[in-house]
This record gives sequence, structure tokens and C-alpha cells, in this order.
Amino acid sequence: MAHPYSARSRAIEPFHVMALLARANELQAAGHDVIHLEIGEPDFTTAAPIVAAGQAALAAGHTRYTAARGLPALREAIAGFYGQRYGLQIDPERILVTPGGSGALLLASSLLVDPGKHWLLADPGYPCNRHFLRLVEGGAQLVPVGPEVNYQLTADLVERYWDKDSVGALVASPANPTGTVLGRDELASLSKATREHHGHLVVDEIYHGLTYGMDAPSVLEVDDSAFVLNSFSKYFGMTGWRLGWLVAPPNAVADLEKLAQNLYISAPSMAQHAALACFQPETLAIFEERRAEFARRRDYLLPALRELGFRIAVEPQGAFYLYADISAFGGDAFAFCQHFLETEHLAFTPGLDFGRHLAGHHVRFAYTQSLPRLEQAVERIARGLKSWQG
Ligand SMILES: Cc1ncc(COP(=O)(O)O)c(C=O)c1O
Repeated sequence: MAHPYSARSRAIEPFHVMALLARANELQAAGHDVIHLEIGEPDFTTAAPIVAAGQAALAAGHTRYTAARGLPALREAIAGFYGQRYGLQIDPERILVTPGGSGALLLASSLLVDPGKHWLLADPGYPCNRHFLRLVEGGAQLVPVGPEVNYQLTADLVERYWDKDSVGALVASPANPTGTVLGRDELASLSKATREHHGHLVVDEIYHGLTYGMDAPSVLEVDDSAFVLNSFSKYFGMTGWRLGWLVAPPNAVADLEKLAQNLYISAPSMAQHAALACFQPETLAIFEERRAEFARRRDYLLPALRELGFRIAVEPQGAFYLYADISAFGGDAFAFCQHFLETEHLAFTPGLDFGRHLAGHHVRFAYTQSLPRLEQAVERIARGLKSWQG
């Protein structure tokens, strides 16, 4: 019998880690203490000033749709943030507030990709990117990247992989799963390479703010025509509120607004009111404390994993992930993850969730747990390696 649902939906892979997560939940329900290093969201709850602003918004009756592009006050606050953090003057008219960075990705792929056309994407990379492209009947041209290019697309790779159906390149800085950051010069050469082909450069800056010992440059510092995806999920700690934004060139805004009206009407209104509190100095101070805590965790976990034999060839400068090569231990990454879950009650993500390139030899650890928990995790890894028969 023919499959009852669309080819489009069949082409979208589930997160492979979900099978591990379901097993982790079973183990937990049976009373085991599972350490979760598979989770791609901050362990901190939303900062108190934002929660208070959300509660006040509800009490004041801000429960209706907003304008499709978002609350003008929030778009102005985001524009002000570009001034403060990057010294950039961004016209609030170019900013659309979206339901998560995911909403921004939906808008950008719907606007820029015709059926049969594709974007170049780094492999490994965030899996949903290629699925959004599939959803608009386009596709992803996966470009294998390794430590020699900092796990990022380069202008040379764009040259090499661009073909007649390529219409753009999407990069993330800092990247998921590798945490690597693109410098200003690299962004400028990517911009030049895509513009020479009359393509679009889309930059996912969702992990901006979560960089350690440095700040990530925005592509808007070197290319005003790039599309920028951002989010309140990670640095701002608002994953469950579903709020992000897109910065687009002025001539794209009317079409994007039309798409937003049709696809989701508006981003959540209560969340938008709450997010206004993000830009107050006392809230920013909380984010900076959390960023320092993530830096401490990275500085603990990175050398500890290397010591145990995991190969992490380039130091991740941002996000909260370590992407580790497990070749030294032999065997397949998915089985490796299963082994640690079953024997040590420790969950982390197999490389398969981030693409195909050497995926069977890699796993991702998220340091979204406290330092004492990470110390326990390292003990469990050391023990579990002894019983692993790759
Ligand atoms: C690289 C990257 N882009 C986009 C997203 C989407 O996040 P959200 O929709 O919560 O902003 C994520 C979430 O993990 C991500 O890792």
C-alpha cells in the first residue's frame, strides 16, 4: 500500500538521539540516576526579570496576536543591542521577531529557496537545516568539513561545491555540534564567494553571546546584505518561550512579513513582552554570569575528555558542545552511546544526528550540567571505557 503521508515528511529524519532519550527516561523511571549530556539547551531556568516581565504581561492582558513582524518596542530593543554589542546601526524595520530561531529559518528558507535549488551546508551541522530545505522542496548540498577548516565552510569550499542549482550557503557561528566560530575575515570571504555567484549568505548567530575568551563577530559587520538568524533560546535562556529573530536586507522585509502572516501570524505575544526585559543591565549581568559558568565547564570538560583519549582537534570557542572523535576506542558511535547509557547511565548524542561525514566516529557532549555533575560524568566515562569493546 502506498504510504499515506507526504514524501516530504518521509524524507525528514527523526533525531536519532530521541531513541536514546526514550531509553534514558525508562532507566530514570526505574530509579537510575541518569546524567544528561545530550541536551542542547541551557540548564538554567529563564532569568527572574524576564519571568517577572512575562507574568506582568499576562496580568496586563497581553494575550493576543502582535504585528506579524513583532512588537515595535522589541524590534527597537534588538536593534539597540546590535549597537551596544557590535557597534552596528541596524534599522529596526529590517528585524522580524519569529517563533524561535526555527521560525527565522522557516522564513529564510521559504523566501530564498525554490524547488530543486539548494544551499551549501557544513557536514557536521545542525540537522534541522537540511530538513527545512526539504520542506520547501529544495535541498542541502552537504559539504564535508573537518578540523583543517575549523569545521566551517570556507570560500574555497563554496567555490568547489557551488553548482547550477546552488542559491546560497548557510553557516552557523558558533556552530552546533562543534562550537567553532567564524572570524570577520572568514565571514567577509564567504560573503564575497556567495555574492560572486549571486547567491545568498545566511548566518545562524543563535549561539552568539556564548563564546569564551572572545566575542563572535556578526556577519552584518562585513555584509549588510546577509540574512541573520538569531534566537532568545540560548544566550538569553528562553528556549521554551519560542522566540527568535531574523535580520534581512530592506528589500526582503515585505515578502518576509507576508510569509510570517501566513505561516504563524505572530511570535508568542507574552514571550515578546517578557523578552523586553532581556536588555536591562541587571538581566544582561545574569547572562554574563551564566556565560562565565559555561566557560568554566568547557575548561574542565575539554581537557578531561582529551586526557581519556577522545580527540577534539580544535578548541571550541562557543556554544556548549564538544564534538569528539572516538576512533581511538573503536566501534560505532551509536553503539558507543548505547553502551554508556546502559552501563553508566550517561546520555550523549551520536554523530549521526549531525550529518554523514565521519558521523559513525563522533559523539557530541553538551555541557549543560553543573560542574559537579560533569565530574561525575567524567568518572563514568573513564569506567565505561574499560568495559567498552568496540
Ligand atoms: C544551530 C542551531 N540553530 C537553530 C536552533 C533552533 O533553536 P530555537 O528555535 O530554539 O531558536 C538550534 C537549536 O538547538 C541550533 O542548535
